[in-house]
Amino acid sequence: MTTDFRTLIDQDREHRKQTTWRGTMLDYLELVRGNRDITKLSHKRIYDMIMSTGTRELDLEENPKLKRLYKSDKVKIFNFFAEDFYGMEKTITQLVRYFHSASLRGEESRQVLFLVGPVGSGKSSLVDKVKKGLEGISFYGIEGCPMFGEPLHLIPRHLRKEFSKMLGVPIEGDLCPVTRHRLKEEFQNRWEEVPIRTYEFSIRARRGVGVVPPVDPNNQDTSVLIGSEDISKLDLYSEGDPRVLDLTGALNAGNRGIVEFIEVFKNETEYLHAMITATQEKMIPAPGRHGMIYVDTCIIAHSNEAEWKRFKSDHTNEAIMDRIVTVKVPYNMRLLEEVKIYKKIIRQSHFTADVAPHTIEIASMFAILSRLEPTNKCDLMTKLKLYNGEEVVEKGRTKKIDVVELQEEAKNEGMNGISTRFIMKALDNALSDNMDANCIHPISVREALVQMVKEHDFAEDTKKRYLEFLQDTLHKEYLEVLEKEITKAFVYSYQEQAESLFQNYLDHAEAYVTKRRFKDRNTGEDLEPDESFMRSIEEQIAIIGTAADGFRQEVIAYLWSVTRREEKITYESYEPLKEAIEKKLMASVRDVSRIITKARTRDDDQSKKYDRMVEQLIRNGYPASCVDTILKYAANNLWKD
Ligand SMILES: Nc1ncnc2c1ncn2[C@@H]1O[C@H](COP(=O)(O)OP(=O)(O)OP(=O)(O)O)[C@@H](O)[C@H]1O
Ligand SMILES: [Mg+2]
Repeated sequence: MTTDFRTLIDQDREHRKQTTWRGTMLDYLELVRGNRDITKLSHKRIYDMIMSTGTRELDLEENPKLKRLYKSDKVKIFNFFAEDFYGMEKTITQLVRYFHSASLRGEESRQVLFLVGPVGSGKSSLVDKVKKGLEGISFYGIEGCPMFGEPLHLIPRHLRKEFSKMLGVPIEGDLCPVTRHRLKEEFQNRWEEVPIRTYEFSIRARRGVGVVPPVDPNNQDTSVLIGSEDISKLDLYSEGDPRVLDLTGALNAGNRGIVEFIEVFKNETEYLHAMITATQEKMIPAPGRHGMIYVDTCIIAHSNEAEWKRFKSDHTNEAIMDRIVTVKVPYNMRLLEEVKIYKKIIRQSHFTADVAPHTIEIASMFAILSRLEPTNKCDLMTKLKLYNGEEVVEKGRTKKIDVVELQEEAKNEGMNGISTRFIMKALDNALSDNMDANCIHPISVREALVQMVKEHDFAEDTKKRYLEFLQDTLHKEYLEVLEKEITKAFVYSYQEQAESLFQNYLDHAEAYVTKRRFKDRNTGEDLEPDESFMRSIEEQIAIIGTAADGFRQEVIAYLWSVTRREEKITYESYEPLKEAIEKKLMASVRDVSRIITKARTRDDDQSKKYDRMVEQLIRNGYPASCVDTILKYAANNLWKD
């Protein structure tokens, strides 16, 4: 296989040769003349990178679920973020808006972008995404410059106006002291001869990417930010010689690109001032007595809300706050998206266990319930479903609650609650409790969550609320799901039976509403609408007596409107009827499934039915290793005698 290695290496080297560029400053000027874009500043570079993969608009007309969430707002999706981030369209839009304004060299380009949100809401991941995106992108810098400075800085002040006009680009900023010294000593100020080259952004090599971790408050050495003077060289050179400078601070490294401040408000104010000066003035102090250094970097800071509130409450910090663009990164509040988060994390990990259907969903429901603010419009489980774009049926009607209004009355929603990491730990714990089967299911995950909540030091009332979600709300929710799953496994060709019930009901209801007779689909007989058949379905969702008339009319009105739009109609189209039909099917097998599942011993016929159900469950995605456990749980908790 060595030849393969050889080819790969050669190809790589050839590719690099082609993509790297080396030349003199004079050559560079020609390049700029041909392509002004190469002189763009950091914010613009990041904005272009984000936009380079394109955007698309969510088609709300195509997707009724989303339409309920956004009403008529247009929702733009940025492909750059779309694959890794879920349910944060609003945050991402704000983020991109910042980069857009900053790319126009407006005030935003002189402000810090600050992400605030609860733990595990994705702040670090967002910044990582931007940093990783930069890797592989190249930019032109002065060869050998410790800060990869923009070559245009070589142009002497008195010539800049003219050059700027000739090149058609603004020229701002100055050489760092080290390069300025070299220009004088090494090149005798023949600036056009200075070598220029392309560099690639690199996180590991700290090229164009700087990171400032929260620093020990007792040891706030500014060298982390701006570098230092190399003591070993102090003897070699005279005082004031820039060759002693070690420009390796995060703000030096991040020149041309990005500097990330992690848990920014854990730092002393002095640090923050350096950060602010770097963005506001685009200047940082050089270590020792070497004046100021120009920097062009996009500063992104993040922290949690508690730290931010503490910082805000101190009015001496006003000046800093005025120079910050805040973007909230709340938790996702949509069930479907929350499930995607864990699937993504699981995909990226070494987690190989089988996951039973609805496991991640139940865990995600818990996360979202914990984040919801109560409302007097509905209970929390209903709110969760509405946020998920679902229709919630009550007394035969879909609840008419406006999701956007719900969101508006809970401005701070998503800034509190259970974090993504907590849920991931619960999934891990559920697995280690069940190593042999190498499988997790809703029951074990809920158990693990209960255990973790009990052990965690939440405030007493929070703990109580969380346990109630787990032991009451989600317990009931899961049992409902489970019964439906078992019914599906039990009823031979569930889908077809549901459809045929649906069609029958429509036939009868239409005849009833229009006061006509109708032809039976199978026999062709002319029939009167069958009241008792319709009632047997309606009573499943508590529609009885005079309410039936209204319900039938609504169903038919719905049916006609769908037909007019020439859309396809299935038993799932009209939520109240769907629920009624599913419940009817459930009721029709409830007795058998109860007896068979609960039986300690089964006769031949029962065994056959039981085995067929197990088989069907497995076909529906249940890992064989946990079907038994789940059915036992059903036997003990569903169909209480
Ligand atoms: N909305 C989301 N979409 C996709 N992934 C998410 C989302 N929210 C959180 N995650 C994932 O959750 C994990 C934790 O996120 P991350 O470390 O970025 O959080 P953080 O906000 O920086 O937390 P902390 O304040 O504790 O540093 C990551 O794997 C991240 O990708
Ligand atoms: Mg983080």
